[in-house]
Amino acid sequence: MDRKLDELLYALMQNMTITVSGEKLAKDLGVSHSTVVRWVDKLRRAGIEIRGELFTGYRLIRLPDILLPPLIRPRLHTRLIGRNLYHFYDIDSTNLFAARLFAHARKVPEGTVIIAESQTAGRGRLGRSWHSERDAGIYFSMMLFPKAPPSLAPLFTLATAVAMHNAVERYTGLDVDIKWPNDLLIGKRKFCGILSEIQAEVDLVKTMIIGVGVNANHERFPEEIADRATSLRIASGRIQSRIEILLEFFEEFENIYLDFERKGPTGIIEQWTRSSSFSTGRKIEIHDGVRRIVGVTRGLNPLGALRIEQQGGQIQEVYSGDVVAWK
Ligand code: BTN
Repeated sequence: MDRKLDELLYALMQNMTITVSGEKLAKDLGVSHSTVVRWVDKLRRAGIEIRGELFTGYRLIRLPDILLPPLIRPRLHTRLIGRNLYHFYDIDSTNLFAARLFAHARKVPEGTVIIAESQTAGRGRLGRSWHSERDAGIYFSMMLFPKAPPSLAPLFTLATAVAMHNAVERYTGLDVDIKWPNDLLIGKRKFCGILSEIQAEVDLVKTMIIGVGVNANHERFPEEIADRATSLRIASGRIQSRIEILLEFFEEFENIYLDFERKGPTGIIEQWTRSSSFSTGRKIEIHDGVRRIVGVTRGLNPLGALRIEQQGGQIQEVYSGDVVAWK
C-alpha cells in the first residue's frame, strides 16, 4: 500500500506544474478511480498539499519534504547504505520491520534502510519508547552484516553517533555533542537517539540493525520529555530539510563503516573522542543496569568502553549504560 502511495505521489511530482486527470492516474497506476480518490485522501492526511478532485484532475502544490525513495535514490553517493530502501508513512517501528525482514526475506542486501514518516511503537534504549511524531522526525533503521565479533558491536553505534554528529553540524551549522555512548545533544538537550540490535554467534555478528531517531522539525514535545528534548528546528530557529540531513548521514556513515573494514576500530574511537565532550575530564554518574558508577571520564578503550576514574584512582571500563548526571 505504501509503495503504491509512493507511485501516486511520484506521478504527481513528475507533473508538478500541471493538473493530471484522475483518469490518467488510475490508468497509469492500474487501479480504479475510487482507489485514486482514496489514496489522494491518504496523502492529504499525511500532510501533502494536493489540489483538485477526480473529475477536474489533481495537482501537487509543493514538493513535500517526504523521505521518498525516488527523491533519495538519484542523489545517493554511497555504494552500500541506502541503495535498497523501504519507505512507510506509518509503521510500528523501523527496527521491528528490519527484524521481520531479516527473519523472513531470503536475502537482504547489506545497507538496506527502512524509513518511516511516523511510528506507532517507536522503540528507545533500555525498554523505553521513542516519540515519533509524523513528518517532524527522521526515523530509520540500517541493516548491516559487520565482519566483527559481538564484542565490537558497540563500536558501530558509536560510529553512527559520529556520522550523525558530522552530518548535522555540516548541514545546520549547530554545535553538536555526543553524550556517551550515543545520544546526540545540543546544549544539554537530546535531539537524536540510536538503538542497535544484533543477532550473533559467539565470534561473529550475523545481523545488525541500527535504528536512528532524529528530532528534526518538532515544535514541541510531550510533557514527560519536554525538559530534556530539543529539535534541530527549535535549536536553529529554522525548518530543516530532513532529506538533506539523511543524505549527508548516509555518506558519513558509509565512509566510517568502510574505514572500519579496512583499518579496524581506531578511526571510530578517534572520531568519537574528537566529537564528544564526554570523552575526557567529565564528572559523570552512570547506571549500567546493575551498578552506579561515579567518576571522571578518561577516554575510550580500544573496544569503545568508557574508562572512568573513580575516587581512589581505580579505572572502571563501562561497556553500556546510561549517563544519569554530568557536570
Ligand atoms: C534512544 O533511546 O535513545 C534510542 C532511540 C532510537 C529511536 C529510533 S527511531 C527509528 C528506529 N526505530 C525504532 O523503533 N527505534 C529507532
